[in-house]
Amino acid sequence: MEKLRLLLKISSEMTKDRDIRKILTKLTSITKQLLEADRCSIFLNDEKTQELWTIVADGVKEIRFPNDKGIAGEVFQTKWSLNIKNAYDYPKFNKEIDKKTGYYTKNILAVPLVNHLGDTIGVFQVINKLTADTFTKSDFELLDHLAMYAASNIENVILYEKLRKAQEDVIYKLSHATAYKDPETKNHIIRVGLYSAVIAKALGWRDDKVELIKLAAPMHDIGKVGIPDKILNKPDKLTDDEFEIMKKHTEYGYDILHGGDSELSKLAAIISLEHHEKWDGSGYPNHKKAKEISLEARITTVSDVFDALTSERPYKKAWSIEDTMKELQRTAGSHFDPEIVKLFERNIDKILEIKKEYYDEH
Ligand code: C2E
Ligand code: SIN
Ligand code: SIN
Ligand code: SIN
Ligand code: SIN
Ligand code: FE
Ligand code: FE
Repeated sequence: MEKLRLLLKISSEMTKDRDIRKILTKLTSITKQLLEADRCSIFLNDEKTQELWTIVADGVKEIRFPNDKGIAGEVFQTKWSLNIKNAYDYPKFNKEIDKKTGYYTKNILAVPLVNHLGDTIGVFQVINKLTADTFTKSDFELLDHLAMYAASNIENVILYEKLRKAQEDVIYKLSHATAYKDPETKNHIIRVGLYSAVIAKALGWRDDKVELIKLAAPMHDIGKVGIPDKILNKPDKLTDDEFEIMKKHTEYGYDILHGGDSELSKLAAIISLEHHEKWDGSGYPNHKKAKEISLEARITTVSDVFDALTSERPYKKAWSIEDTMKELQRTAGSHFDPEIVKLFERNIDKILEIKKEYYDEH
């Protein structure tokens, strides 16, 4: 049966998605087909402004209105569904939306979107039944069912997004735990993650893997917490003995990060251990060479050195972009994976945009 096939399609597609816009677009498109409706809108309540907003109104850009306005507002406030045959006869109908969109609304079926706590988070509505003059009781039951499904998906995405933001925050803060003694800035940490994500995307990686390196790369120098202050913030060149101690930050970082269960902490541990290895085997701590070094670490190395060179440090001035790119090219094949340097060059516009957005204030 066609309807069943569509329902199965929703469930398998929704669970993969973590992007609210994609989810809403899919839900509305499938709901229109299922209910034989001309339009479908999912209004979500913006808690800050107490407005209902929707991004999917078929070609129309975002629509926003107070959450007690119109039919959608009434459903939102009362939590009662409405099945209205002639919208223009209904006093609460908000004619302004039709005016704005040039559309003619005849009938509306609208149900509340309720989360697992019983709070209304929005309104799910279909407009203009294509195959009859009005929506039926079985349309209502179907939409009500879809609304439960939609609400739980939307809620998951919102929770996931909050969690992701909190995690990002913790990672940036922890990665910068040496802030009070290390001249590296918080933005350096963020930039190294974002540059690495640009390269990962250029390699064609899936979004979740790109996200992983974006968050893991910033932790590459976390082991510097174990390095004595007088070495870490020395305003001059390090002596050989001091540099030997400094080199230990790779293994300290590995010790801090490894042994975790998450893919993120595993990846961060490897990157920390290997981000000073060099393509020709002359790096530290284990003199790994070429593809013995994980690809993620090879990417992070290029990002880190690009950012270190173009930034001011107490012991050095910032290099120009041009000199920095020359240096990357000069040492591609000795210090760096030449393929990664190529990708870095090819994507230099995106890199420079990031550099500009997360610039250091002095
Ligand atoms: P960092 O400042 O984050 O630098 C990361 C890497 O960027 C360095 O790894 C090196 O490969 C490259 N890099 C940074 N500055 C320069 C530079 O002026 N010239 C060139 N050619 N490459 C540069 P490396 O060398 O293993 O250093 C690891 C960390 O040790 C550095 O991290 C920094 O915290 C510290 N460090 C290195 N050299 C000195 C120094 O002369 N004085 C002080 N105070 N710290 C240093
Ligand atoms: C209303 O909620 O009153 C109108 C909704 C719409 O036309 O989309
Ligand atoms: C962190 O070290 O900040 C997070 C690591 C993890 O989530 O596994
Ligand atoms: C990998 O390290 O993931 C394989 C690809 C490569 O080494 O370049
Ligand atoms: C350095 O470690 O300061 C130089 C690294 C390089 O680019 O070869
Ligand atoms: Fe380092
Ligand atoms: Fe660094």
